[in-house]
Amino acid sequence: MTTEKVTVRTIRTMKKRGEKSVWLTAYDYPTAVLLDRAGIDGILVGDSLGMVVQGHETTLPVTLDEVIYHTRMVARGLKRALLVGDMPFGSFQADENKAMENAIRLVKEGGCEAVKFEGAGRLLGLMERLVSSGVPVMAHLGLLPQSINAIGGFRVQAKKRKAAEELLAEAKRVEAAGAFSLVLECVPQEVAKMVTAELSIPTIGIGAGPDVDGQILVFHDIMDLLPGYQPRFVRKYAHLGDTVTEAVRHFINDVHSGEYPSHDESFSIDDEVFRKPAEGIGDQTGGKESV
Ligand code: KIV
Repeated sequence: MTTEKVTVRTIRTMKKRGEKSVWLTAYDYPTAVLLDRAGIDGILVGDSLGMVVQGHETTLPVTLDEVIYHTRMVARGLKRALLVGDMPFGSFQADENKAMENAIRLVKEGGCEAVKFEGAGRLLGLMERLVSSGVPVMAHLGLLPQSINAIGGFRVQAKKRKAAEELLAEAKRVEAAGAFSLVLECVPQEVAKMVTAELSIPTIGIGAGPDVDGQILVFHDIMDLLPGYQPRFVRKYAHLGDTVTEAVRHFINDVHSGEYPSHDESFSIDDEVFRKPAEGIGDQTGGKESV
C-alpha cells in the first residue's frame, strides 16, 4: 500500500495492473479515521446507513441531507482513501436537472470525490452529464436495493443467460457513459467474471464472487455489530457487537461495585482534565496534552 492519495485514476490504474481495490462503507469520523489508517482504498457513504445506522428495514427512507451529513463526518477523517457518496432513493430518479444539483451538493457540501447511484437505462444521460461536469460516477448494477419493492426481496440477480447478457450490455453502456467503476451486487460469480473481463473500468463486487477488480462490504456487517440476518457473502472479521455489549456490562458492574472510578481516574486539585491521546488517532483533546 502506498501512502499516496487514492483518486478515481488510481482505482482505474489498479485494474490495469491487476491489483484489487478494497472498499468499505463508513458513516462517521472515527470509523473513517480507523479505516483510512488501516489502508482501505475507497470508502462509500452508502445509503445502507438507513439499515445499519438508522435502523430501517430498507434503504428507501434515507434522504440526501442525511447522506451529506454523514459524508461530511467521514470526509474529515480521511487522508488517503477515495470518498464516494451514495445518491439516496428519490434524489436522482424524478428529474435530471434536480439530480445534477443533488449530486453537486454531495460533492460541494458533503466533500465526496465521486458519487454513486443505482441503475442505468434512462439514467445514462445523467451519468454522462455528471462526468462531463467533473463529477466522477460509480455505477451500480445487479441487485439494486432501492428497487426492493419492484424486485420483491433481496435476491441474486442475472441468474439466467438472458438476464446475464442484459447485465453485460448495461455494464458496457455505463462504461461508455463515463463511469469510473461499476459496483456489481449479488450476481453469480460466473456472470461477474464475464462482465469484469469485458470492461476496461474496474468492477467492485459485493456478493459477486472473487473474479472482480475490487471488493466492497458494509462495515457494520463485517464487524458483526448488529445481531440478526446477514447475507452469505459477508465474512465477519471481528465481533464488535459482543465486544461492546461485554464492555458495557463490565462498566455497569464496575459502577455498581464501586470499582469505577479509581483514585487514578479521579482528580485532585492540581490535575488537568486530559491525558495524552493514543498514537495515530486524531488529537481529541483540542491540543491540551497533560497527565
Ligand atoms: O449503500 C451501500 O452500502 C451500497 C453497497 C455497495 C455496499 O450501495
